[in-house]
Amino acid sequence: MSPLPEPARAPEADVFASGAYWAEYYSSLGHENREAARFLHASTRIPVGQGGAPRVLDAGCGPTLLYWGVFYPDDARLSGFDLNPSGVAFTQRCVADAKAGRFDPGILDAAGFATALDGRGETAQARMAATAARVERVDLGDLTRTWPAATASTEFVTSCFAFECINSWEGFRKACAEAARVLVPGGRFVLVMTGGIQWVCDGQTFPTLFATERRVREALLAAPFKLEALQNVESQDVAVREQGYDSMLLIRALRLPEPV
Ligand SMILES: C[S@@+](CC[C@H](N)C(=O)[O-])C[C@H]1O[C@@H](n2cnc3c(N)ncnc32)[C@H](O)[C@@H]1O
Repeated sequence: MSPLPEPARAPEADVFASGAYWAEYYSSLGHENREAARFLHASTRIPVGQGGAPRVLDAGCGPTLLYWGVFYPDDARLSGFDLNPSGVAFTQRCVADAKAGRFDPGILDAAGFATALDGRGETAQARMAATAARVERVDLGDLTRTWPAATASTEFVTSCFAFECINSWEGFRKACAEAARVLVPGGRFVLVMTGGIQWVCDGQTFPTLFATERRVREALLAAPFKLEALQNVESQDVAVREQGYDSMLLIRALRLPEPV
């Protein structure tokens, strides 16, 4: 048996701990986040199995589990994990704050947009607090190793801007296989990735995997998934901030039963 790859490091830890990542990418609702949000919102409303309150696992959630969580269905039970303790701590703080009636303005913006997508009259504050109350766990975990979740334990795996930060395609394939393991058959893997070779924050450049359609498709098919959607979206945010890439991929894949 070949050894597992070395765990990916999180060299960008400082921009999460310093708040620079949040300030640049989450303090206001730009074009990318709106497009990613629409995709997450629509994808997590696809019925899986017998229906009922779906479980959503955000893999590589970093600081944004609650930010993206407001777009999931009203009864969704949320959990997430990340390699970086400062991202996990940030998410835990956002959840505790929202439960206590303290609302981050960036997440409030997102919650207002989510409410508008649903065409409902609830306030952004109410949506944020209700979402926070449905967060079950936020763990430390490595995408490229065994995930902190049981086999067939979730209807949806979501992941935003994290899979491209894995440091090898071998690790990427291992992470896709883990997504397949933790999903129930018929579950959905909803993946948002940047399309370039790097991203930028606080003047620092961080390398990413160059996620071509062919490589992503191959990794998903092997997991085994059926690719249901793959959209390449040109970013409009590139005109207003220094981000190092100019497109993103929106991907949805159906978890197939194991091949016999
Ligand atoms: C650009 S941030 C995205 C964070 C968040 N999901 C979002 O939507 O903004 C990349 C995230 O991937 C995480 N990450 C990178 N490699 C990882 C790995 N091997 N396992 C778990 N998380 C990882 C980082 O710690 C960081 O939180």
